[in-house]
Amino acid sequence: MVLLINLCYPEPAYTETGKGGMKSPGREILSLHEGWRFFKYGPGECPDSLVYDLRPDLAGTTELRTADARPTEAADIRFAAGVLKPWILPNANDFIGDSAKRHDRPPGNPGHDFPFVQAGYDDSSWETVNLPHDWAIAGPFQEGPDPEVGGGMGRLPVNGVAWYRKKIRLPAAAAGRSVFLDVEGAMSYAMVWVNGWLAGGWPYGYNSWRLELTPHLRFGADNQLAIRIDNPNHSARWYPGGGLYRNMHITLTNSLHVAQWGTFMAARDISARKATLDLRVTLRNDSDKESAAELTTAVFKLDALGRRKGRAVALFSPQRPVVPAGGKVTVESTVELTRPRLWGPPPTQRPHRYVAVTTLRHNGRVTDTYETRFGIRSVEFHPDRGLLVNGEQIPLRGVNQHHDLGALGAAFNSRAAERQLEILREMGCNAIRMAHNPPAPGLLELTDRMGFLVIDEIFDSWELKKTTHDFHLIFDDWAEPDLRAFIRRDRNAPSVILWSFGNEVGEQYTGKEGASTARRLLKILREEDPTRPGTLAMNYAKPPMPLPEVPDVIGLNYQGEGIRQDREFEGTDRIRTVPQYPAFHTQFPGKALYSSETASALSSRGVYLFPVSDQLSAPVRDGRGGDSQIRQVSGYELHAVDFGSTADKVFASLDNHPYVAGEFVWTGWDYLGEPTPYYESRSSYCGIIDLAGFRKDRFYLYQSRWRPDLPMAHLLPHWNWPERTGKVTPVHLFTSGDEAELFINGRSQGRKKKEPGTCRLRWDEVRYERGELRAVVWKNEKRWAVDRISTAGQPERLTAKADRSHLNAGGEDLSFVTVTIADNRGNLVPRSNNLVKFSIEGPADIVATDNGDPTDMTSFPSLSRRAFNGMALAIIRTRAGETGRINLRITSPGLKDKRIMLKSR
Ligand code: GAL
Repeated sequence: MVLLINLCYPEPAYTETGKGGMKSPGREILSLHEGWRFFKYGPGECPDSLVYDLRPDLAGTTELRTADARPTEAADIRFAAGVLKPWILPNANDFIGDSAKRHDRPPGNPGHDFPFVQAGYDDSSWETVNLPHDWAIAGPFQEGPDPEVGGGMGRLPVNGVAWYRKKIRLPAAAAGRSVFLDVEGAMSYAMVWVNGWLAGGWPYGYNSWRLELTPHLRFGADNQLAIRIDNPNHSARWYPGGGLYRNMHITLTNSLHVAQWGTFMAARDISARKATLDLRVTLRNDSDKESAAELTTAVFKLDALGRRKGRAVALFSPQRPVVPAGGKVTVESTVELTRPRLWGPPPTQRPHRYVAVTTLRHNGRVTDTYETRFGIRSVEFHPDRGLLVNGEQIPLRGVNQHHDLGALGAAFNSRAAERQLEILREMGCNAIRMAHNPPAPGLLELTDRMGFLVIDEIFDSWELKKTTHDFHLIFDDWAEPDLRAFIRRDRNAPSVILWSFGNEVGEQYTGKEGASTARRLLKILREEDPTRPGTLAMNYAKPPMPLPEVPDVIGLNYQGEGIRQDREFEGTDRIRTVPQYPAFHTQFPGKALYSSETASALSSRGVYLFPVSDQLSAPVRDGRGGDSQIRQVSGYELHAVDFGSTADKVFASLDNHPYVAGEFVWTGWDYLGEPTPYYESRSSYCGIIDLAGFRKDRFYLYQSRWRPDLPMAHLLPHWNWPERTGKVTPVHLFTSGDEAELFINGRSQGRKKKEPGTCRLRWDEVRYERGELRAVVWKNEKRWAVDRISTAGQPERLTAKADRSHLNAGGEDLSFVTVTIADNRGNLVPRSNNLVKFSIEGPADIVATDNGDPTDMTSFPSLSRRAFNGMALAIIRTRAGETGRINLRITSPGLKDKRIMLKSR
């Protein structure tokens, strides 16, 4: 039988064709990464009039809103003549359930006479760029009190209109095939002309979409692609990036083929002995004749790297649907797989995956081969036990992540995203909430492969607005198509355990009306995926209100711990809320509950401010954890946004409410934009890990809780305080142990035990003297871990460490090189800010530098960078097809140079 299966389904299905291309029998994917021409209108230049739609005026718009301010009514913009929206809307038709609501393309071809869309236009003076491309990340940062793009959106030039042009050539032999442009994300309001014909577009910058190009192409000749991007200012509460910032490719198929995101695999009745797989396949026939198809699907294991392994382990029975001319058909089939290897989160489970290879034949000839990667796992949200994955209770130890990759901006890079996940994993994190928009598909490939649990989220606003130009402007037309497209794209990803269809939406405040919008969205969600629950993240709605009735699983932002409960907030008109877990649990005894956002604690790596608060959790003010002059927040990790709580307080609250499925910390990594509490800065303060990827002290606090079996101890602050000699300088310890003794220069400062409800050990009376701090830790009365910090000397040399020194010459691989300013013994000099310079020889480039300082306005590509509290980062990228030794030289005035060698192969 096994032999027969292999004869029927020869492998492999997909082979790589270089430069990101792929081929399988009947289907070809051509990468569009290289060789684009790019032009952006300068500030104040009058852009062309090819606008998607009118937008409300920005006059009077300010970003000075509190993160949890109440969203407001949308401006009333009436549909205007002369805009291009009617030509773009038909692109949504595949994602509109009610056929009566689908759009007809109006006659005419707007923009055809505009020079940029014409093949003959001379774009040789335009910049040459490769994708993924974020036009704004190189800066410069817009400094000062009244920038065009404020701190909220990262002070980078994200706004404006730009054009991308590229000629593509398809062989004459491809005539008769169907050709699609697949865009994983374009920021934003993309509109595409092919050989001067307005083919369509997609406004929402985070979703993936497809355009059919076939009727507008010439085979065996050049074809001109021209893409207009219009990225509004005040469109987000964070840095969105700008341009063609994700992968893009051309897909060639035969007329009879598996439709876009045309498969859905779901597993049920899962046990160690067997699992039942239900497969749904949608076929599309672009020809003008009805076609009889023959459809077979075989299932294979994938190895840890995502490569197909061995022989088919299950075979769906062949099916013979007839696909109408120019139409679609969906067929369903079921198979039983014996002894399934389950997908689950480490460390207790492993993320095993499978691939289903669907082969489509017509008259015995293969017309398409399509791969669906999936995992077999059961996920249950239980009102009292929280999350069960394959029957095992898994506490959600999650973080929120925005989509930017720090100094690399929004341009997706798989290695940069993998590094983020690796560092989070080291901390013990097992879950990611995609805040607040669909991620790059490559990120879900990583979470699937690495075994992170994912909340896939789509909207930060519905009909009510948070910022003048956010999604509310297109909600009416695009909420349904965006939601359906998002789910169809991601529903085979085993890491996705929950769909979130809204974050802190203004409809929390609108009673029944808001709830009815939520119901409509949830209904769509269920039509696209009946296997996963839907959730909403709520920071305002309370149990008796209409909105929380709607989601299957309840997500609370900050409400679990209570919001603004301190005295100082009395009488303010901001949200004030007593701790809400019990009220929600009582009101919804059948629904599971988790915290979609906790903490929003604030700190700057390596900055310690005095006096140190004696509270568990306090807001930031000058002299209380904050310093608005230097715009830094203390790393003692005792402060949070006004509506938030520190990790310590959150842990205590989760311990007291064991039915809560867990938490998603706001945030894992710092991100660009939203620099609460200092909007003059460029990036956030709330990350556990700073923007450069350096661990703040908080990292060890989470690690001590999330990896209780790892012997670890982490002392703070650093021990270089000459001006504090003899002054009270509290010493805190984050450890997975339960008891510790602190020594200063060998003298005991006392042995302390963790008190119930606390997660740190603190010696608040210590007086500073230079020398050595040492903590000896016990757990269950056994020696467990030791940490020590010594007073460092003067800066004398540089140390450098690459996270990876053997790189892939594909042109996308990265090495992250961490540089420290060190004394003569190699100790980090904690308060040093020496200027570091980088230069490189060999087949690689320094694409960005950083130091994790939210106030640093040196543009990211700069080759000189001031160290921030002793540390700086350089990001090295290989060049496509160039191999050899890479020599990175690091210098700093007055310090000994450092060189490090990398290899690209
Ligand atoms: C929340 C919001 C997040 C972020 C955070 C900052 O209210 O959902 O997007 O703004 O506050 O603390």
